[in-house]
Amino acid sequence: MIAPNSLEQLLHVAVIEDVVGDYVSLKKAGSRYKGLCPFHDEKTPSFVVTPALGIYKCFGCQKGGNSLNFLMEMENLTYVEAARTLAKRYGIELIETGQADSEEYRNSQKLRENIQIVLDFAQHFFAENLTETEEGRTIGLEYYRERGFTAETMNKWGLGFSPSGWEVLTQKAKEAGYSMENMELAGLVRKKENGEYFDLFRNRVIFPIHSVSGKTIAFAGRKMSSAENSPKYVNSPETELYKKSDVLYGIFQAKNAIKQHNKVFLTEGYTDVITLSQYGIENVVASSGTALTPGQIKLVRRFTPNVTVVYDGDKAGIKASLRGINLLLAEDLNVRVVPLPEGEDPDSYCKMLGSEAFAKYLEENEENFIFFKARLLLEGVKHDPIRKTEAVRDILDSLAEIRDPLKRNALNHELARICEMDESLLATELSKLVRNKWSDTGREIIEELRQITESAGVDMPRESFSDISQERALLKLLLLHGDKAFNDETTVYGFVMNELQGDEIIEFHDSLCSQIIEAFKNHESGEFPGQQYFIQHTDSDIANWAAGILSEGHELSPAYLENYIYIIHENDNFKQELVSIFVHLRRKKLDNMLRQAIEKLKEDAENTDETMLLIEYLNTVKMRIAQEVGGAVFHFGTNNGSA
Ligand code: CTP
Ligand code: MN
Repeated sequence: MIAPNSLEQLLHVAVIEDVVGDYVSLKKAGSRYKGLCPFHDEKTPSFVVTPALGIYKCFGCQKGGNSLNFLMEMENLTYVEAARTLAKRYGIELIETGQADSEEYRNSQKLRENIQIVLDFAQHFFAENLTETEEGRTIGLEYYRERGFTAETMNKWGLGFSPSGWEVLTQKAKEAGYSMENMELAGLVRKKENGEYFDLFRNRVIFPIHSVSGKTIAFAGRKMSSAENSPKYVNSPETELYKKSDVLYGIFQAKNAIKQHNKVFLTEGYTDVITLSQYGIENVVASSGTALTPGQIKLVRRFTPNVTVVYDGDKAGIKASLRGINLLLAEDLNVRVVPLPEGEDPDSYCKMLGSEAFAKYLEENEENFIFFKARLLLEGVKHDPIRKTEAVRDILDSLAEIRDPLKRNALNHELARICEMDESLLATELSKLVRNKWSDTGREIIEELRQITESAGVDMPRESFSDISQERALLKLLLLHGDKAFNDETTVYGFVMNELQGDEIIEFHDSLCSQIIEAFKNHESGEFPGQQYFIQHTDSDIANWAAGILSEGHELSPAYLENYIYIIHENDNFKQELVSIFVHLRRKKLDNMLRQAIEKLKEDAENTDETMLLIEYLNTVKMRIAQEVGGAVFHFGTNNGSA
């Protein structure tokens, strides 16, 4: 236990905006701060810090609490660990009393602590070896010097050297009394068949890898001579503390600069990060040679939406990295690329140009990712229509990842110019791709809202159709297209049934429509019952309804032409119409909630903040729904409602 007055003192010093600010880019909003919640994936800020109360609260995922709770959640720490960490960080002496908590809790805490202890020991060992041993100085230090790293740089990055022997670290650790089990769990040593241990890192320069909060959680060891016949890098394995896919090299050292510039440079290698930062470009991280992972993207997002990729200037490498970049676009980040001359990497080119010229080069050659990709893929295929079409499709595929329709259209306009193709043709292709990617009706967003509404005391109204023509349009689409594929996973029937159910069933007003939908649901196959089922239905109203719709195809009427087109061309329009019906429902629901919230604000002076936040959130949710379906809203009551 931690003595109450000691805890009070700690929370007094470790103020919430500082503690959170180490992880989240916070913007001041009146007497509070807002930012993107680090605990769940979100694109509009619903995470609020209130310094006056010393608390944070996410209105999206409902997580909240004080500085300690934040650190526990963020770093996966126990209460006591979090208190100790904060105390250390803020130079406060913590008074602990009595016995700590449960067995299991203490064991996992102990394991992590133990791994951290040997990692810190190894870090110290490698750094000391670099400067305090003959071998370290003549080989390791010399290597770094040749690469142009200053002493200050080596210090900042904790660079080290692992001796050439097989058991130097192993021996040192034994002498110092560290257990080999912990050394192995930390990924520093390996066990031989005879039960003896040996060092993982031998005769290499060592780059420590840090967590967001600056703890050493892993190492990378680079060989110093290309002549040596072994892998260029030896990397720590994943451990209790090191989850490779959630780490970006340099994020701890870069995070303040990233926030400050509201931008991050993404490179591939450790040396790129170190050199650029030595040359004054400090908002730089590395993906460590692998394709970006969603975890790494989430990490970047916490600090900035602006990512500039600076990859090595060789064609093969660039093409391979294109794929990962779609992920960035899908996460709503603004992605730019700086191409480097062939044969150069950020490290070499920065050294060659010097800091001023390199910074200028970055600024002048930064290009929107879509244009970059277009130029790259179109190179040399302009006169080959088939390869050109393939390239264009690939580019449009990236473009379709961008959610904001305005951005997307502006880029498409430029793209048409670059590939010398008709803009409206590209736009048509693009909207197809977009529709397939974002056939989201807002259902999940509404689910997310449920929790938020509870804390603001606003009811979730039930969804219902605004008029009978909507209900009929839906049933008609279901009858005509129920057995067709909606996407790779489900049929139109499956999609509609899934949308209609949930905790709150969408109400049908018209009694015939309610009967029909029941008939759809109750068919024993559990699947689309087929058109015949309705034509032959014992309820003559239902049979009439089905016959009416299906016979439209046999007379020459505008409705015939419409359906004819659907059927013959297998046009995808019905999907868009279906999506629009549900989007429309959800928008209406949001409007109802907004109205309620505004009413509440007028009546109720308490909880004003919560309600204001809710209103703000509802508005952004409305925008999100609009964006995700590209603003494609279906109009009812024209010629689609005829049943
Ligand atoms: N990498 C790795 N294992 C390898 C090669 C590369 O883990 N065998 C990762 C490292 O994170 C490395 C990054 O991929 O930093 C980029 O590789 P590369 O450009 O070859 O290495 P650099 O670190 O840039 O080294 P240098 O500048 O000396 O070429
Ligand atoms: Mn490199």
